[in-house]
Amino acid sequence: MQSHQIKSFEEYQNACQRSVSDPEGFWSDIASTFTWRKKWNTTLEWNFEEPNVKWFKGGKLNITENCLDRHLKTRGNKLALIWEPNDPKERFVRYTYRELYEKVCQFANVLKKNGVQKGDRVCIYMPMIPELAFAVLACARIGAVHSVIFAGFSAVSMSDRINDAGAKMVLTSDGLNRGAKQIPVKRVVDEALESCPSVEKVIVVERLGWAVNMVEGRDVWFHDEVKDVAKDCPAEEMDAEDMLFILYTSGSTGKPKGVVHTCGGYMVYAQYSFMNVFQYQESDVFWCTADIGWVTGHTYLLYGPLLSGATTLMFEGVPTYPDNGRFWQVCDKFGVNIFYTAPTAIRSLMGGDIDDVLSYSLDSLKVLGSVGEPINEEAWHWYHTHVGKERCPVVDTWWQTETGGIMISSLANVTPTKPAHAAFPLPGIQPILVDAEGNEITDNEVEGYLCVKFPWPGMIRTTYGDHERCRLSYFSTYKGLYFTGDGAKRDENGWYRIIGRVDDVINVSGHRFGTAEIEEAINHNEHVVESAVVGFPHDVKGQGIYAFVICKDKPEREDYLRAEIIETVVEKIGKIAKPDKIQIVSGLPKTRSGKIMRRILRKVAEGDTSNLGDTSTLLDPDVVDEIKAGAL
Ligand code: WTA
Repeated sequence: MQSHQIKSFEEYQNACQRSVSDPEGFWSDIASTFTWRKKWNTTLEWNFEEPNVKWFKGGKLNITENCLDRHLKTRGNKLALIWEPNDPKERFVRYTYRELYEKVCQFANVLKKNGVQKGDRVCIYMPMIPELAFAVLACARIGAVHSVIFAGFSAVSMSDRINDAGAKMVLTSDGLNRGAKQIPVKRVVDEALESCPSVEKVIVVERLGWAVNMVEGRDVWFHDEVKDVAKDCPAEEMDAEDMLFILYTSGSTGKPKGVVHTCGGYMVYAQYSFMNVFQYQESDVFWCTADIGWVTGHTYLLYGPLLSGATTLMFEGVPTYPDNGRFWQVCDKFGVNIFYTAPTAIRSLMGGDIDDVLSYSLDSLKVLGSVGEPINEEAWHWYHTHVGKERCPVVDTWWQTETGGIMISSLANVTPTKPAHAAFPLPGIQPILVDAEGNEITDNEVEGYLCVKFPWPGMIRTTYGDHERCRLSYFSTYKGLYFTGDGAKRDENGWYRIIGRVDDVINVSGHRFGTAEIEEAINHNEHVVESAVVGFPHDVKGQGIYAFVICKDKPEREDYLRAEIIETVVEKIGKIAKPDKIQIVSGLPKTRSGKIMRRILRKVAEGDTSNLGDTSTLLDPDVVDEIKAGAL
C-alpha cells in the first residue's frame, strides 16, 4: 500500500512529470492499490465549463472497507484511534482496527434500525468524542451522506444546513466539554429542529449524563439503541461518483454552500496526500488537532489516516486547558510522531510562558504541519524551534474544503521547506497564477490569482442542490479554470506563498466566513439599518472581524448596543463569528451607484489611513473623515 509514497526529490519530480503527461495512468495506478468491488471503466471524464468531473466512473467500492475491513488481517490489533478527553484526569480510550470496525458496524446498524437508507442525508452535530468518528464512518458504511456541522454553530445555522441538505436524521449528544465549560448541545438541536420538517429521528449520545428533553417518537438514546445490534454490518456498494459527504462552507455571497465530495476520488486523494505530505510510517502516531466539523478533521483526522492503516489521535479539549502545555503533554503521553495544527493555535500558545512547552520532552515528534491560514514567520519559527527542536520539518499545507485534500505543501523530509511558504504542488496538482484578465502568468517572482487548470480526484463535484452555484463560484471567474479565491506569490525559485483571500471571505482562526453572511446576521438586530464587515490583521486569530454599523437612532449607550449586536451574531451564526470591533457610523463610503467601497473600510480597520486612494467618486466624501476619526 505504501508503494506510492514518494521517497526522494527526484521521485517527486518524476511523479509530477508523469502526473501531467499521463494523469489518467498516474491516478489509475494509485487507485489500483485500494479495494474495489468492481474496477472503473473510465479513469477521468471532465470539463470545467459545466463543470462535470467524474473520476473512476463505473467503479464500485465502499470507503469504509478501505478504512477498516482491508486492515483487519494485517492490522487487526494495531491501534486505529486514540481518544484523549478534555479533562486530563479522565481516562483515555483506545480502539484497535478490529474494535473500531465493530463500533462502526454497530453504529451503522443503529442507523439502519432507525430508518436510514442509502442516499439519505444525516446531519451530525456532536462534540469530539469517539462516537462522532463512529457516526461518520457508519454513515459511509451504509451509503448515507454525512454532513457534519461544527458543534459551535448556532441553532439558526444548524437549521439552515439541515434544511438545505434535507436531512432525515440528526446525530447529537446531551452536551459537550470545552475546557472548563460544559455546553448543552441537545438544547441547540431542539431549537434548530423547530424549523426542520425533514428530520424524523434524533439519536442522542450520552456524554455528560445530563437529563435532556427527549421528544417522544423522535428522539432516542444511542445507548438504548445499540444494546442488541450486531457487531457486523455489510458495507453498501457505492458508485465511485456517489456522494460521500456534504460539508458547508462560506463563500463571498449568500448562505454557506454545501460542498459535495464523492466516494472514489476523495478516498484516493485523502490517502495519497496523507501518506506523502506527512510521510507516515507504519508505527507512527498521528495527531491532527482539527475538529471533525471542519474539512481538516474529515480528511486528516479520519479518512486519510484510516485509509493508510495509521494510528490517529482525537482530542476532545482545547490547547489552553487546563493550561497552555496541554498539546505538548498529550504529545508526550502518547508518543505523537506527527503533529498537525493551525497557526492560530500556535500563536495563542506563543504568547504564554515558554516553560509551558519547554517542560515537555517532545522527543517523539518527527514532522509538524500547519493548515488553515498563512503561517506568519514568527509563528513558523516558534513552532520549528520550540516544538520541533529544529529537528522536524514544518509542512505548511495549503488547501480548501473544496479541494478535499492538501494541494500545495512540502513533503516532509522529501522536498525542502521555507518559512511561510506552502512551497510546491503535490504530484497531480496543476496550479497556475493568473492576472485580473485570467491570463496565465508563467514567470517567477510574480503575484496573481491562484487557480488550478486540471482536475484532481479529491475536488468538489457540486454544491448540494444547486449546481449552477458551483459553476458560478469556482468555474466562471476565469474560463476553463478552477478559481480558489486566494491570491499567491511565486518566488524566484518557483515556490508558492499563499497570501490569502482575494474575495469577501475572511479567515478567523482558520474558519471561513463571508462578510455578507456576518452583515446579514448583524442587520437582523432591530436597531441596525445597514452594516459593512471587513477583516483586519489580528495577532492571534490571523484576521479579526471589524463591523461598521449604521443605526436607526443614535444609541444612548454604545456599549449596550455593541453587546446586543454581538448577541445577534452569536444567535444567527455562533460564537466563532463574533465581531471583534464594532464602529457605529452615520454613513458608509459608497459610490454613486451604491456600492460600498470596502477598500477604504479595510484601510481604516487596518489602522492605515495615510493613503485612502481616490475618494472623489464617493457619493458623500465627508463620511470618510467621520469614519477615520471614529476608528477603533
Ligand atoms: C486558507 C481549510 C495559507 C485559504 C483546509 C483557503 C491557507 C482557505 C492555508 C480554506 C495555508 C488554508 N496557507 N492559507 N497553508 N490553508 N488557507 O475551506 O485562504 O476551511 O482558501 O479549508 O483557508 O479554508 P477551508
